[in-house]
Amino acid sequence: MRPSRSPGNVVAAEQVDRTEASLARRPRDGALFVAERQGQLVGFVTCFVAEDHFELVRPEVQIRDMVVTRAVRGQGAGRRLIEAVRAFARARGIGRVTVTALAANESAVAAYHALGFRLAFVALESEA
Ligand SMILES: CC(C)(COP(=O)(O)OP(=O)(O)OC[C@H]1O[C@@H](n2cnc3c(N)ncnc32)[C@H](O)[C@@H]1OP(=O)(O)O)[C@@H](O)C(=O)NCCC(=O)NCCS
Repeated sequence: MRPSRSPGNVVAAEQVDRTEASLARRPRDGALFVAERQGQLVGFVTCFVAEDHFELVRPEVQIRDMVVTRAVRGQGAGRRLIEAVRAFARARGIGRVTVTALAANESAVAAYHALGFRLAFVALESEA
């Protein structure tokens, strides 16, 4: 199985290993949670405690990457991964979880809304 960042591909164990190694190298507080079905890796989410040195917003845990294998989407794995991130935040006294998605990724945005997220920021881009 080859690692891939493409949504919908089977999550590769190598990709999770790389992410875990990257987390271990960083001096930041973060976590990688995995979803398994019958011993097979079917999804993961990575998250970090955001460093806001100016304390302009409430402390937050940011979700970095989240994917569930296409074959098991819509069966609750995403919800359980998000619950794990929320528990991770609460354990640190942090009351906010954020996630960024491509605006074009309508299914992910819809899923996040169903999971209790609401629009909080608008990010804009242009050609350089
Ligand atoms: C987004 C993603 C992680 C959700 O995982 P999942 O396992 O399918 O989520 P769940 O089955 O736990 O569903 C959670 C909620 O979202 C809803 N939902 C899921 N997909 C949805 C969709 N396409 N449209 C509307 N609602 C959706 C579910 O109905 C559920 O709500 P409910 O409990 O009220 O019924 C998964 O679709 C995915 O991996 N997508 C591709 C990768 C990606 O885009 N990641 C996000 C990058 S920011």
